[in-house]
Amino acid sequence: MSAQDVAQLIYLASAILFVVGLKRLTKVRTAQAGNMIAGIAMLLAVVGALVEYQIFSYQWIAIGLIAGSAIGAFAAQRVPMTEMPEMVAIFNGVGGAASGLVALSVFWGEIVEKSVTGTMAASMGADAAVTLFLSIIIGMVTLTGSVVAYLKLSGKISGSPILIPGRHVINALLLIGSLGAGVYMAFMSTGLDQTVSLALGVSAAAALLGVLLVIPIGGADMPVVISLLNSYSGVAASATGFIIGNKVLIISGAMVGAAGLILTQIMCVAMNRSLANVVFGGFGEEGGGGGKSGEYENVTSCGPEEAAMILENASSVIVVPGYGLAVAQAQHAVRELADLLEKNGAEVRYAIHPVAGRMPGHMNVLLAEADVPYEQLVEMDEINPEFAQTDVVIVIGANDVVNPASLTDQESPIYGMPILEVHHAQTVFVIKRGLGSGFAGVKNELFERDNTMMVFGDAKKVIQGLTSELKESVPGLAA
Ligand code: TAP
Repeated sequence: MSAQDVAQLIYLASAILFVVGLKRLTKVRTAQAGNMIAGIAMLLAVVGALVEYQIFSYQWIAIGLIAGSAIGAFAAQRVPMTEMPEMVAIFNGVGGAASGLVALSVFWGEIVEKSVTGTMAASMGADAAVTLFLSIIIGMVTLTGSVVAYLKLSGKISGSPILIPGRHVINALLLIGSLGAGVYMAFMSTGLDQTVSLALGVSAAAALLGVLLVIPIGGADMPVVISLLNSYSGVAASATGFIIGNKVLIISGAMVGAAGLILTQIMCVAMNRSLANVVFGGFGEEGGGGGKSGEYENVTSCGPEEAAMILENASSVIVVPGYGLAVAQAQHAVRELADLLEKNGAEVRYAIHPVAGRMPGHMNVLLAEADVPYEQLVEMDEINPEFAQTDVVIVIGANDVVNPASLTDQESPIYGMPILEVHHAQTVFVIKRGLGSGFAGVKNELFERDNTMMVFGDAKKVIQGLTSELKESVPGLAA
């Protein structure tokens, strides 16, 4: 068996492990193992490349492996869960940069070093020439777009949309210009100097395009953008795989591209927004999407003591976590309250909306951090029919995802967004600091419903208050 055959077998094993790893990532319970399997697949891909290219000088490879692993391990330990979107943004940017740089290095080796004076297509084949400039463009857009997304998410630059006049025309010109220059570079340019200038020009135009595409998008839409950039980084890697003829890069890149696109689509559907609406930006201006923010009338509120009295007699309780739970870091306090309610004989479940919070799986991650049993987490479609038979719903820092206006008010920007229909429950407690709006910036009719009681305050403090009231009023619970 030749080294080439061995390398192909290793690639095959790597591709299979990537698929298995990705499949396992779809469930919280198997996600950790899935991540590990995908990591092993990556290692195999590196080993396969070493065998394929017969690299016997491992010095640089070893330095790269050690440095990369050390940085990855350090970052994974240090980064808190709430900063995961920033970390993913950096990973995407690095992935895009890697693809773009590999394409440029192939360009250097095949065209510049060989002093090619004819066209690139004639020298390296039309397909390689096309994928080369595509890889540069997508890689550079991903790199700079991800950097801007990271800066916005981390608050290093303003999260609000920066709307440059005529930006759509500028972006269209940059895109058409870089694609046109890429085609010219691949098929028409003959002088070496001209081809090199074109390669640099395409890189610069694509880098600028990445910045301009992301700055008009509001900070709160960044998770969707990051997912889209993740998809771009996969496409860039796949294109690079075609240039260097590496099958495992083509396969893994295509998987990342498809997975990122599917996730983007899921988020858009759950927010009832079109991808174009997110990508063309501007949402989040003037307090988050406009719409009716209106004054509230007939709002009933109560303190933890009164709420605890009702909870004491509840036999079914559904907790609805939202962005405010993450802000208050109230997950452990919620778990403690839920344990107490269960001890008191109530059935406790958690209703999970697909876009509650600010990143995919935000609520699942938070609740998992507090060791809430997975079986108690119920998806929206499954839990919605249950609300009508539920004694008490506790909405904690959630707003848009429980707004009934999305079902009835055609004028509302969130009209059509599927919600957790908590208003059907017997009693609804809404814990938040005031009557402030959520991400979409609209009034929430739920707060005025007869069966709703607002419990104002920071989520963590209110939950802790409820817990101590329950312990005081029910003998035996405190033990
Ligand atoms: P939101 O509608 O954003 O509402 C969060 C509420 O939490 C606010 O109204 C705020 O009210 C309250 N809050 C903030 N800090 C708090 C604290 N310390 N204690 C108690 N309450 C606090 O949240 P949601 O219901 O989770 O909906 C998510 C929204 O984000 C949706 O519109 C969704 O489309 C959007 N979005 C989601 C994603 C993903 S992937 N999840 C991505 C982009 C956008 P007060 O100020 O009155 O306290």
